Amino acid sequence: MCNCCQQDQQVETEKELKLKEVIGKFCNQRGALIPVLQAAQDIYGYLPKEVLIKISEDLNLPLSKVYGVVTFYAQFHLKPRGRHIIRVCLGTACHVRGGAKVLERIEKELGISDGSTTEDLRYTLESVACIGACGLAPVIMVGDDTHGRLEPEQIPEILEKYE
Ligand code: FES
Repeated sequence: MCNCCQQDQQVETEKELKLKEVIGKFCNQRGALIPVLQAAQDIYGYLPKEVLIKISEDLNLPLSKVYGVVTFYAQFHLKPRGRHIIRVCLGTACHVRGGAKVLERIEKELGISDGSTTEDLRYTLESVACIGACGLAPVIMVGDDTHGRLEPEQIPEILEKYE
């Protein structure tokens, strides 16, 4: 039996309670780690170190294994993410049509570099390979919204729409 089933009840935050519930649901199942990590990331928005330690303890798995899985899969994030994820396409079609200049402009506007998050957690900026809208190159996505045929000058106006 894993440790989570033996722990005393304590006063915990809402997130901790949710996490405990998820771990409790999966803790005696094989292959629990990935679904627990996914649920934990849904709860916290990313995977803080303390959460990984708790998961490791409660699932009776070495912390090194938990980190190994988290760092292997791109879906998991060890740092807080912004409310709006900006994906700038640097695939071939977008690159040829000025994707790098669009990225540069966004970096300048936000004061962050590719792969980073603004301090106010408003935006996370990521460059990606082709997002399947080559006809609209150069393209960015903000959340689920696609913005195509972009000129760098349009960037400030687009960013303003996302609070
Ligand atoms: S290369 Fe950018 S959408 Fe295909």
